[in-house]
Amino acid sequence: MSKNVFLPSAKAICIAAFLSLNTVVYAQKTADISTISEKTLSSILEKNRSYYTEGKVADYIPELGKMDAQAIAFSVVDKNGKIHNAGDVHKKFTMQSISKIIALMIVVSEKGEANVFDKMGYFGTDKPFNHFSNLETTGKPLNPMMNAGAILTTSLISGEGEKPFLKILDMVRYITKNHAIDYNKSVYESEKSTGHRNRGMFYLMKNNGLISGNEEQLDNYFRQCSIELTAEDLAKIGYFFANQCVRFDGDSTYKNEEVAKLIQSQMLIAGMYEFSGEYARTVGLPSKSGVGGGIAVSVPGKMGIGVFSPALDQHGNSSAGYHMILDFVKQYDLSLF
Ligand code: DON
Repeated sequence: MSKNVFLPSAKAICIAAFLSLNTVVYAQKTADISTISEKTLSSILEKNRSYYTEGKVADYIPELGKMDAQAIAFSVVDKNGKIHNAGDVHKKFTMQSISKIIALMIVVSEKGEANVFDKMGYFGTDKPFNHFSNLETTGKPLNPMMNAGAILTTSLISGEGEKPFLKILDMVRYITKNHAIDYNKSVYESEKSTGHRNRGMFYLMKNNGLISGNEEQLDNYFRQCSIELTAEDLAKIGYFFANQCVRFDGDSTYKNEEVAKLIQSQMLIAGMYEFSGEYARTVGLPSKSGVGGGIAVSVPGKMGIGVFSPALDQHGNSSAGYHMILDFVKQYDLSLF
């Protein structure tokens, strides 16, 4: 063995220099979360504003087709519960599928996780949100994030008539501390009169013995999807599940570490539907989208993010919303992985 074998070659020195340079550049790019400000959010929002042109506003629920495609908002509730907003933060939109995580929290708190997941799976999916998936084979929905599982979830909440819906509405009002929140009746009527695919799933699950009630239960699902809120409200919802179901102002009435873990795990594996796997790779955070253009994100143990931009990509997720989240997560190095 020659004597100079332990001396680095010129090539090795170059590689080491390149790697350390890259580390420095990377370190400069990621910022401390204490520096989050409205200015940071505004610049990310402006950079991604035009992504709405790559998407399309949902119109399979006719009333949703009336949304302003150019509206955009970005909100963060930081670790200390402080709210940072940018864009059209007062613009209201319907939460749609984001309501599914609230319904799941309520039913699991009432019935226990085992009783709920006896009737549906914990599976991820490569299918769109309104797919019948294995209702025809195993008879059970894949998970509570897709429409079938969510319709079943709401039907399992105790109470007659619209009581289950009112529980969901009250919980959204509690988490956001916004008692003005209500549902949009036009969107509700619009979905009720056109939601035949969901109606089909409802009756198939009734046929399979999973659902025992009548269409009032499906109406509760349509109503919960029509609850109207803002990006700030979504950020508060994201914060709540990121912090063991403790509210952004520190109120711990519903504190429950296990429920928060369950909800976030479902958000991670199915919250963005068939895009969830790729999203876990690029963003790496529990998130839930809705066809109203909102996405709620939980940064476990830290913060909540809420975005809004109604033009959707082919998976039914907000296009500009996704890109704002992606930039924010990169800037503050927030991916779980
Ligand atoms: O049931 C539906 O089709 C809508 N109310 C909710 C779907 C939805 O938000 C899917 N999310 N991206």
